[in-house]
Amino acid sequence: MRQFAKLLLTSFLLPTFATAEQTADQFEPELAGAGQVATTPESQAAEVAKLAGVPIEAQGWMISAAHPLAVEAGAEILRSGGTAADAMVAVQVVLGLVEPQSSGLGGGAFLVWYDGESGELTTLDGRETAPLAATPTLFQDEAGEPLAFYDAVVGGRSVGTPGTVALLETAHQKWGTAEWPTLFVNGIALAENGFAVGPRLAKLIEGDADRLSRFQTTRDYFVPDGVVPQVGHILTNPEYAETLKEIAGHGAGAFYTGEIAEDIVETVLTAPGNPGVLSTLDLAIYQVKERAPVCSDYRGYQICGMGPPSSGALTVGQILGVLENFDLAALGPDDPQSWRLIGDATRLGFADRGRYMADSDFVPVPTKGLLDPAYLAERAELLKRDTTLEQALPGAPEFDHALNWADDISIELPSTSHISIVDQYGNALSMTTTIENAFGSRLMVRGFLLNNELTDFSFLTHDEGRPIANAIAPGKRPRSSMAPTIVLKDGKPVLVVGSPGGSRIISYVTKAIIAHLDWGMDVQEAASFPNMINRFGVYDLEAGTAAEELAQDLQAMGFATENKDMTSGVHAISINETLLGGADPRREGIALGN
Ligand code: GLY
Repeated sequence: MRQFAKLLLTSFLLPTFATAEQTADQFEPELAGAGQVATTPESQAAEVAKLAGVPIEAQGWMISAAHPLAVEAGAEILRSGGTAADAMVAVQVVLGLVEPQSSGLGGGAFLVWYDGESGELTTLDGRETAPLAATPTLFQDEAGEPLAFYDAVVGGRSVGTPGTVALLETAHQKWGTAEWPTLFVNGIALAENGFAVGPRLAKLIEGDADRLSRFQTTRDYFVPDGVVPQVGHILTNPEYAETLKEIAGHGAGAFYTGEIAEDIVETVLTAPGNPGVLSTLDLAIYQVKERAPVCSDYRGYQICGMGPPSSGALTVGQILGVLENFDLAALGPDDPQSWRLIGDATRLGFADRGRYMADSDFVPVPTKGLLDPAYLAERAELLKRDTTLEQALPGAPEFDHALNWADDISIELPSTSHISIVDQYGNALSMTTTIENAFGSRLMVRGFLLNNELTDFSFLTHDEGRPIANAIAPGKRPRSSMAPTIVLKDGKPVLVVGSPGGSRIISYVTKAIIAHLDWGMDVQEAASFPNMINRFGVYDLEAGTAAEELAQDLQAMGFATENKDMTSGVHAISINETLLGGADPRREGIALGN
């Protein structure tokens, strides 16, 4: 048996939890050398702790998110007595500036909220909607064939009605206590004064320069005069600052009606070569939806997250529900049989996801049947063997609508961002936020990028005469994989977790939960642990990590394997006597607490 879990972790582990002062003093020179965005001694220390595989420990509050400047903005709100909802607004506003390729005002988000006072759990759906003028053939050519992915993505056609700004306002109205305009102060200042471009943004701009250059506004910002900004270049975004001032001063209404809304629509309708169909009416009627969380039981815990239109909580719940029938704790992370079970349970989950999961406001989704322990035990029977399944087909969950859906194979490429926050009032927030592909539609207006979320719909409406649940329709929300999650024990939150990564999000989150609950890893170890994912048959092993060591054993079980880069972005907080925060070492984020 190969000790790949130990291999990975021992190289990172320090003997104790990190405190800000210790680690900053100790590691400052390496930090400077790594070219990281250094903000305060606290965030430098957090960066060092992450790279050392050590969680941040705190008593009162904790944030884990994708960029030190965004985390700092949220921390400032929490320090001055704000709630997790307040802090989230400040974090998102800064993320839209410093990590513009992943999320922002032009995108959508899902939020899971545990209320420290009432003990209630709820979710907010700020997913983009398809424009009222969207037709079933929006992503097909004249012959009815699906468009090539990037032909659909780049331009106005893929832009759905953004939901993030409405979600920020809704969350603040429900759970915020800070004055709304104060939540924008940091974002406005950074946009006006500039921020240092980090390694990730610089690399992504370079890799996407051709597409970004297709539209003048986008080109002028990201590749002015054809020059890609270098790491450390100070980038200002005065237009973004002006947009933030409008929203800070007048609320979300200033985004959904009036000049900003008109500019968004104009940009979409006039996108050269690939115009879209968004209208000012789509923006004016946009609504955030409050929905009941989707929860499933796992080894005495409740795993709660975002239901349809996300497939996140359903698929994570299905995978864990199947795995509950096996003793993963006894097998441990080093046993290839653990990975056979996880890989094939994931394939079964993805098979059901492709057939059954979509926006339940538009199509019936067998939510209860998909998570029924009896159904999942039946699915688990398929895995009682030593080798991989020859094929993983959708099952037949209990369903009170006799619909015969076809399978959807829509493409979702990795992007997105995740924010986890616990505040001093006992509230917990898990929010995954996105503009879909890296840099979304590549259309930029008023300092922010517009999403390409509509390409999360199936490009085809039918397969061999059978309808596809995730087909596009006016007002419908595209199926997502985002899986913002809060894990409860006896009704109290014990883990807040989520990740970006397209449809791999589901596996990144599942891995973190198993690593923490079954294998006793702390949140930093769980985030750092190598990624090994099998969604559709090939077992992807994270390139350059100890996961590659598993290839032979998996191949002997009948799996095809491939070594791949898998840039998860797990941001997690565990809640016990103390709060522990972890941030994925594959990205630039940190955890910060006090
Ligand atoms: N666009 C990524 C997701 O919603 O899953």
